[in-house]
Amino acid sequence: PVLVVDFGAQYAQLIARRVREANVYSEVVPHTWTTEQILERDPAAVILSGGPSSVYADGAPTVDPSLFDAGVPVLGICYGFQAMAQALGGTVAQTGQREYGGTHVEVPESGVLLTGSPTEQSVWMSHGDAVHEAPDGFHVLATSAGSPVAAFEDRDRRLFGMQWHPEVKHSPLGQHALENFLYRGAGLRPDWTPGNVVAEQVDRIRAQVGDGRVICALSGGVDSAVAAALVQRAVGDQLTCVFVDHGLLRQGEPEQVERDFVAATGVVLKVVDAREQFLGALAGVTDPEEKRKIIGREFIRVFEQAAREVVAESGAHGEEVRFLVQGTLYPDVVESGGGEGAANIKSHHNVGGLPDDLQFELVEPLRTLFKDEVRAVGLELGLPDAIVWRQPFPGPGLGIRIIGEVTGERLDLLRAADAIAREELTRAGLDRTVWQCPVVLLADVRSVGVQGDGRTYGHPVVLRPVTSEDAMTADWARVPYEVLARLSTRITNEVPEVNRVVLDVTSKPPGTIEWE
Ligand code: XMP
Repeated sequence: PVLVVDFGAQYAQLIARRVREANVYSEVVPHTWTTEQILERDPAAVILSGGPSSVYADGAPTVDPSLFDAGVPVLGICYGFQAMAQALGGTVAQTGQREYGGTHVEVPESGVLLTGSPTEQSVWMSHGDAVHEAPDGFHVLATSAGSPVAAFEDRDRRLFGMQWHPEVKHSPLGQHALENFLYRGAGLRPDWTPGNVVAEQVDRIRAQVGDGRVICALSGGVDSAVAAALVQRAVGDQLTCVFVDHGLLRQGEPEQVERDFVAATGVVLKVVDAREQFLGALAGVTDPEEKRKIIGREFIRVFEQAAREVVAESGAHGEEVRFLVQGTLYPDVVESGGGEGAANIKSHHNVGGLPDDLQFELVEPLRTLFKDEVRAVGLELGLPDAIVWRQPFPGPGLGIRIIGEVTGERLDLLRAADAIAREELTRAGLDRTVWQCPVVLLADVRSVGVQGDGRTYGHPVVLRPVTSEDAMTADWARVPYEVLARLSTRITNEVPEVNRVVLDVTSKPPGTIEWE
């Protein structure tokens, strides 16, 4: 892999993504790794990311100079560039002149790194210190008002660096520079493609699983679907998928799993109808956290029972179910490795907490992938668009979109309103601009309305369309008024119990995306 050493800025993951967009596989590693640890991974190249520190700050992370003698191509970016310059004997100075945002650089010599670049360009910078003198053996490629050395390279040792951020879209030629580093500087080939990811994961799954049996909980979401499809491609009927219908799904979703997913993959599917069980467990409960805990607990119970049945049924073939598929994604892996003790805002629900007497070894074929890469793999595996481009939907489902007690009647009502919202947003071509649009039923609120000749006394639903990159932050989506108008008219006409449609115009923070 190409290893991106994370110096603590939010840019490391972005750099890793950009490298992958250049069809080269990359991973993020912490800056606390020693040179030996880095070299043990046999990296094809190393990129040192930006970071919030000044190289002069107490306890500022440093680079072990031995990294540069290892014969591995290295690119330093921003802080990584300065740390590199310092480690190799160049001078870094506090100029007092901050460069932030769009900055003009001159490129007197393009070298390898800036091949194909114009002699002047606009780039995105964010730094206080600057490299004043390049280390011995380096050519200065670029300069700016605040950075006497804004980019350098030592072609023979395959060491490169730039003060600006090539990974952000505000550096229009940034991706080009990254690709110069990868293809020309490090001599890598762009062969990391969805097709190759599938082939590689299939091999790995086969190696891990052997002739063991595997079980997977399908939620209808893209992650579990793609993970299951990969495992099915690898080991076929050794996999049994379990789909728990907890009754908190949206209109058409059970069919999407039971019909479309099975048709596309040929997977063996066990459907468990647990609607009554979930409704029973949720009766009388209004507290959001309690709902989440109940749904999580019931899910594990049902899944556990299903797993036992699959084990019992498979007994005839003499193989045990030893493996459980999980759709863990790369950002989860990086974040839990970072372990910065993020506050528990909401207890998220997935199949993590299985009981001890059901011990499974995990199969996690998406562990190295970002969401958009999961989608590309899904398409490669022939999954339908409706599954691959599905917007995020929470594990506890509509259970946390009914404010108040969850009942069968309220679920039907919300399902109807939600289906209209989704249909209209799709018709307006907004599916990929809107990250997701929860429709929330304020079940305990009633307001007076008038419809036809009569007074109504119905419930409001809230539309919560948001835009987001990763659900960590979000903004309310500026859905065109005409679309909102159509939505409102249709919902109030077609769902008689709803006489008011309101729009949530809160960003995250302070609001979360879901209401509970
Ligand atoms: P919040 O409401 O925390 O949601 O801003 C962020 C994203 O996570 C989804 N979400 C969940 N997903 N299990 C999930 O799998 C959950 O318990 C859960 N709760 C929220 C939410 O839809 C949004 O995309």
